[in-house]
Amino acid sequence: QDNLFQKVVSHAKEYGFVFPSSEIYGGLQAVYDYGSNGAALKKNIKDYWWAAMVQMHENIVGIDAAIFMDSQVWKASGHVDAFNDPLVDNKDSKKRYRADVLIEDHIAKYQAKIDKEVTKGKKKFGDGFDEVQFLATNPNVLRNKGKIEEIEGRLKKALEDEDMAAMKQLIEDCDIACPISGTKNWTEVRQFNLMFNTELGAVAGDAAKVYLRPETAQGIFVNFLNVMNTTRLRPPFGIAQIGKAFRNEIVARQFIFRMREFEQMEMQYFVKPGTEMQWYEYWKDLRLKWHLLVGSEENYIYHDHLKTAHYANAAVDIEFKFPFGTKELEGIHSRTDFDLTAHQELSGKKLQYFDTELNKNVVPYVIETSVGLDRMFLSVLCGAYTEEKIEDGDKTKERTYLKFHPALAPIKAAIFPLTKKDGLPDKAREVMEELKYDFTVSYEEKDAIGKRYTRQDLIGTPFCITVDHQTLEDNTVTVRERDTMEQFRLPVSELNKFIGEKVSL
Ligand code: GAP
Repeated sequence: QDNLFQKVVSHAKEYGFVFPSSEIYGGLQAVYDYGSNGAALKKNIKDYWWAAMVQMHENIVGIDAAIFMDSQVWKASGHVDAFNDPLVDNKDSKKRYRADVLIEDHIAKYQAKIDKEVTKGKKKFGDGFDEVQFLATNPNVLRNKGKIEEIEGRLKKALEDEDMAAMKQLIEDCDIACPISGTKNWTEVRQFNLMFNTELGAVAGDAAKVYLRPETAQGIFVNFLNVMNTTRLRPPFGIAQIGKAFRNEIVARQFIFRMREFEQMEMQYFVKPGTEMQWYEYWKDLRLKWHLLVGSEENYIYHDHLKTAHYANAAVDIEFKFPFGTKELEGIHSRTDFDLTAHQELSGKKLQYFDTELNKNVVPYVIETSVGLDRMFLSVLCGAYTEEKIEDGDKTKERTYLKFHPALAPIKAAIFPLTKKDGLPDKAREVMEELKYDFTVSYEEKDAIGKRYTRQDLIGTPFCITVDHQTLEDNTVTVRERDTMEQFRLPVSELNKFIGEKVSL
């Protein structure tokens, strides 16, 4: 699985999806740039989200708030005081680690020991191997399982209680060594605030301090009244936004899964208090359906949170089976009136609507859906990466391609003249002219057709259209489908309709 992930990361770089930021200077950790195909895929994901949220709901509107906001926003939201991760330094290597991740990595070592035992068991017992029985009775497995349970339990409690001393004790009891220096010389564990800050204008000091927003949601909360007044919408209604967010993540790994600069697609749905659980269920269901329209069912699961963040009374993650583990892709939170009430108190402005049934002003409750655009990109890329064996005469060949849903594919169709002669390039360009108003298409005439197919497979183009001599006679072309590799002829006049149907959702 690690190997598969490495392949996806290399593929992303080699075929113009994702590059390390400032790569010629060695790359900036946890910051990435998107290449030509990556930018197109990212835009298609954004458009898919915007269409599903804003276009398809007459009571949801979009906004585009600034990244810089008054620092009081982050005081009210709780981020200044509570948006922390536990940090620990190794005194010898001077390297910083997220304490909980360090402990989780230690847990993974016990898991690896269990996996090793299972592999040995499989070898020894062959077909008669009963894994469940083996896991329940093997003393080595039981010992390691017990260790995992003990450490996990203590870690969970330390995180819940925000007990940094307990976390330090756990690191000591586990005798955790620094991955770089191998020494066990740790500092105390302390809270590290993840917000970046800078100064606005030429004045120094606290008055001018601004934060780079760590979530887009607050831009929606502080505009609640402006939007309600200008759209005349009343709960239930939603405000959607796509934009950059910044977090000074301590751990920078797993490619674009956890970045320091990333994009979020968030929607706050304002509802009448008391109806929030019904809307929570509605959005929980709808958001998973949105993912399933472009992904395979077996890759997604819900993970309900028993203990929720300080602002929520119910929370669920939609998790995706990434090659490095099943991890959070999107969060759906019932945020109560936490944010609006906090802003109301600190700003002194009423953030309420007039409820005609109750005949009084009410602070609405909020259901939030929040998905990372880059994380969604990674899930789409991992889900699309396909290696398969194909029979070619008496030889077996390997084929790698990206099985994107056509709606998300960076390029919808590539148009090829069979050869560079006999007016075929002119005819192919003519076909391209007809299609380019509706779809992103590309033109290629270099190399043999087979090579051109391969190049398009590698970037996930669902259709290749070849113009040949017959085209000049009857105005039909060969269409080759990426996934099946099947080829069939279609009149040029039908291409638009054919591609249009395939790329729509
Ligand atoms: N407004 C709620 C909020 O921000 P979150 O769980 O912290 O909640 C929501 O973030 C989503 O944003 C996550 O599910 C994930 O997809 C994405 N996300 C969060 N931190 C990220 C990071 N460092 N890099 C990439 N995506 C991130």
